[in-house]
Amino acid sequence: MEFKLNHPSLNPYSEIAIVKKQLERSIVERNRLDYSNKSNIYCVNNSLVAKMGRSNELNEREFDVGNYLYENGIHVPRIHSLIKINRSLIRNHMLSYSFDNNLVLLMQRIPGKRVDNLEGNEFTKAHQLMKKELAKTDILMIYPSDVGTHNTLYNPNDGKVYLIDFEGWEWK
Ligand SMILES: Nc1ncnc2c1ncn2[C@@H]1O[C@H](COP(=O)(O)OP(=O)(O)OP(=O)(O)O)[C@@H](O)[C@H]1O
Ligand SMILES: [Mg+2]
Repeated sequence: MEFKLNHPSLNPYSEIAIVKKQLERSIVERNRLDYSNKSNIYCVNNSLVAKMGRSNELNEREFDVGNYLYENGIHVPRIHSLIKINRSLIRNHMLSYSFDNNLVLLMQRIPGKRVDNLEGNEFTKAHQLMKKELAKTDILMIYPSDVGTHNTLYNPNDGKVYLIDFEGWEWK
């Protein structure tokens, strides 16, 4: 598998090549989103981030769960694609990786903050919205895992919250 592509509007042989170059550059330049945390999350361009999970299996799960949630109207970052990258790129430039990591999940970048970093009214509003979003998953064929304000982003531009980090979610 070279990649799994999501957006039908994308021409896999043109735009994906550009995004792949941007992704490679962000890894080489260690352009991580939050340098202080341990996650392998890279800024690919203004609208996309890349996540390399703890294993390929977990990256694949996040791809499937993210798409499933999006298709069922849950606010989550739009998954762009799951891309295979060169092992040498990972070995030479990534801080942490496992023996089989060679997939990277590209997704919509949500501009904003984690809900647990908000304060006052903004926190209260975002917290309520998060609970609403989580309640919407009750009827789905999936069990949430590791959910909470630390895995929810608030985008002040559209006033919406977005659930993130689906590595531990389990199919019912
Ligand atoms: N789509 C996104 N847009 C913007 N920022 C994001 C996005 N996805 C993740 N982040 C940022 O990267 C951080 C880590 O992401 P995530 O929780 O998915 O990774 P993780 O490896 O499971 O990390 P952790 O163990 O800290 O939960 C988030 O807290 C958030 O700040
Ligand atoms: Mg997380």
